Amino acid sequence: MLFFQQQGRFLSELARSVEDGSLLLLRDAWMRSDDAILNRIQRNWVERSPAELWQAATVELQRLRSFVGVRMTASHAIEVPDQTDASTWIASQFENLRNSFDEEINQCVDEPDLGVTKTAWLGRRSGLVSLVTETQLKRATSELKPIIGRELNKLRAHVESQIEERGAAMESGAEESALARDRIDLSLPGVHRPIGSHHLIRQVFQEIEDIFVSIGFSVVEGPEIETPYYNFEALNIPEFHPVRDDMDTFYLELPKGAATPLLLRTHTSPMQIRTMEKRKPPVRVIVPGKVYRRDNPDATHSFAFHQIEGLAVDTDITFCDFTGTIEYFVKQFFGPSVKTRFRPSYFPFTEPSVEFDVSCPFCGGTGTAASGGTCSKCKGAAWIELFGAGMVDPAVYGFVNYDAKKVSGFAFGIGIDRLAMLKYGIDDIQVFFQNDVRFLRQFP
Ligand code: DAH
Repeated sequence: MLFFQQQGRFLSELARSVEDGSLLLLRDAWMRSDDAILNRIQRNWVERSPAELWQAATVELQRLRSFVGVRMTASHAIEVPDQTDASTWIASQFENLRNSFDEEINQCVDEPDLGVTKTAWLGRRSGLVSLVTETQLKRATSELKPIIGRELNKLRAHVESQIEERGAAMESGAEESALARDRIDLSLPGVHRPIGSHHLIRQVFQEIEDIFVSIGFSVVEGPEIETPYYNFEALNIPEFHPVRDDMDTFYLELPKGAATPLLLRTHTSPMQIRTMEKRKPPVRVIVPGKVYRRDNPDATHSFAFHQIEGLAVDTDITFCDFTGTIEYFVKQFFGPSVKTRFRPSYFPFTEPSVEFDVSCPFCGGTGTAASGGTCSKCKGAAWIELFGAGMVDPAVYGFVNYDAKKVSGFAFGIGIDRLAMLKYGIDDIQVFFQNDVRFLRQFP
């Protein structure tokens, strides 16, 4: 219904003209003169429409013409020609109206169309039924009145029932097509939901776990909230020992009278104790996990970070087993060409204690970058400090009821964040915790 605004405009002008008796003026304005509205629509719109629209526009204008024509005719009193049977004549007039209605309703393709047609026929002010009531029924002679009244009632009944029927059909048709739209097509590929990937820290954990599992270690995990006994004392760090200074850390606020203070573990080493308490030698475990320290965040510090603890205890473990195991791990992790070395160090729970270094994997242990300048990773030192380790201090065995005369073993504690930064060339530890997908996506 391209011109339905024109229909509306015509209907309201028609209603006004019926009221003030200016039907002739209306007819001229719409259909008679060259300048009449329908002719202007023909010249200005239809004839100027682009080729592909021309035919449709012509059909629409024809509909508008008959719409206007039917109503102009209906707005005149019925005159029965001489020598004609009034009933037959009137019936034929109404038959024409009924055909016009059928034509109009057949052109309705959707509910808005139907609404326009309903107003055009049943509208209280400008609907055709009201129009005929005003112009034909009310003005008819007393002989014709009952005939017109009967025919008009038949027409109204027809119009009402048709509009209702079509409306119901459209509604169920709409439901049907909505149903068809919503029906699930199992042959369609489906919605792809990206599942993301492991965080780089998790990936490095996995890599290290795989290496150690392949040589007989098993993976255990422990609580992040610890007692000072496991975090310190049983690791041979008595109260007031100076190494507690840099582990002076997050204690939990507990109710008065709590059995023991609690703190966020400052390292994964407490799991050495918990494991040996539960297992008899041989023990070979690694412990990945989160640890917490009161550090101010900067490019190399975070109050939460990650470690992997390692512990191997048996009756015949030597320092050679220890360094051999570490060397194996480091070569697996950084590549076969790296070398390892260890330097004396100090940890309360190992004796002797060492610090392991790896030959700088970036400059091939030369300290000189490929460009000729100083290697930026090892700062020219050719070695990179990796992690602390050592042979388990016999004092520790005392806390877990191992016989220090019969068993020996080694332990190590690897800082995962630092290792990941080294291996993947990351210069700020904070990116691990910011969860910026632009960073995370670089490690699928
Ligand atoms: N727990 C130590 C720390 O967090 C790291 C460590 C060093 C763990 C030596 C060990 C070890 O098991 O033997 O600084």
